Amino acid sequence: MEPIISEFDKTIGITGGAGFIGSHVVRLFVKKYPQYRIVNIDALTYAGNLENTKDIESYPNYIFERADICDEEKINGLFTRYGFNAIIHLAAESHVDRSIMDPLAFVKTNVLGTGILLNACRRHWQPDVANKLFYHVSTDEVYGSLGTTGFFTEETPYDPRSPYSASKASSDHLVMAYHHTYRLPVVMSNCSNNYGSHHFPEKLIPLMINNIINRKPLPVYGKGENVRDWLWVEDHAIAIDTIFHKGKVGEKYNVGGFNEWKNIDLVYLLCRIMDQKLNRTVGESEKLITFVKDRAGHDLRYAIDATKINQILGWKPSLQFEEGLAKTVDWYLENQEWVNHVTSGQYQQYYTEQYNKR
Ligand code: NAD
Ligand code: DAU
Repeated sequence: MEPIISEFDKTIGITGGAGFIGSHVVRLFVKKYPQYRIVNIDALTYAGNLENTKDIESYPNYIFERADICDEEKINGLFTRYGFNAIIHLAAESHVDRSIMDPLAFVKTNVLGTGILLNACRRHWQPDVANKLFYHVSTDEVYGSLGTTGFFTEETPYDPRSPYSASKASSDHLVMAYHHTYRLPVVMSNCSNNYGSHHFPEKLIPLMINNIINRKPLPVYGKGENVRDWLWVEDHAIAIDTIFHKGKVGEKYNVGGFNEWKNIDLVYLLCRIMDQKLNRTVGESEKLITFVKDRAGHDLRYAIDATKINQILGWKPSLQFEEGLAKTVDWYLENQEWVNHVTSGQYQQYYTEQYNKR
């Protein structure tokens, strides 16, 4: 492959850019930084969808490369071709329930895939790593589960409890090990639950929205007492932009919404919003709520203390949850074609396997 001579200030490879959060990050960077060339590197698994980036595909600073991060030869080829100055790494298997069904898929992509990317950075960037950066996007789930009080800080010891979180914790450790051992310039963030447009309907909020639209049962695990801290996905993308440009090499930053909700309360809120938007009788959607067998090893509560990113880098969430949820519902109602595409075929098989046993 011939290397491409670039007229851009820098070339950033963003992995997982066809997924939920990745597509928002790619969109933000492509539009905000015309001086950067953005290469979206994605294998297009069931969770990756080029419809997510359709609005930016004609931008002159945007390129898509279909590649599996576990394919070492292909990844090294992309480094040679594009001469990346930075990588923002979001590609991952991301759904906890799927990690319970098939843990090794998570070990492969999240651990081995991250290792292959780190090795490529080492190989192509050393000995001169000045102005290079490997940004690893991770999750608050690496910290384990909280009781009814307390928050995760950057110093909270790792205690992952699902195959997904264990694989993300392993990748976090690898990233820091490459920093300490090989002086690779890295930065990392650990974020709470995101919500917003283009969210694959296997996750709580988009699954409930889709089921309410279709008057299907709303499967709440256990008693719905588990608590998550929800953040508008575009605020996460802004946090990533902030950390990418202002974060300190070798450091990690927690990102969260200061917005804790019990699952059952969130589902009630969604039902109320949707009854109104769908012109249904008040209380109609709530009748669809069905309590089902709990998730194995279900973490009780996540809550992020985002003081560090707030005080040092000046980031804070911009949107109130009720407003963000209403915007999210609107997006799904206006983008039923997107939903129909992603829920055809393979999704039906997953849904049957995941929910019919409960
Ligand atoms: P997603 O499942 O929506 O998207 C993942 C993307 O990665 C998809 O486009 C998929 O095609 C791609 N991908 C998967 N395996 C790949 C491989 N082997 N090679 C190349 N591409 C591959 O995930 P998401 O929810 O957007 O999460 C993105 C990142 O953010 C993940 O690393 C996740 O752990 C982290 N994160 C997610 C949340 C959340 O609430 N969704 C919160 C905190 C952190
Ligand atoms: O905290 C960050 C993490 O948030 C990310 O790292 C993960 O990639 C992301 O998937 C998310 O993990 P969760 O397991 O918290 O998200 P999920 O949407 O799957 O579930 C949210 C809560 O809702 C959880 O307590 C389980 C519950 N749930 C989920 C589904 C899919 C239900 O009650 N019913 C469901 O059908």
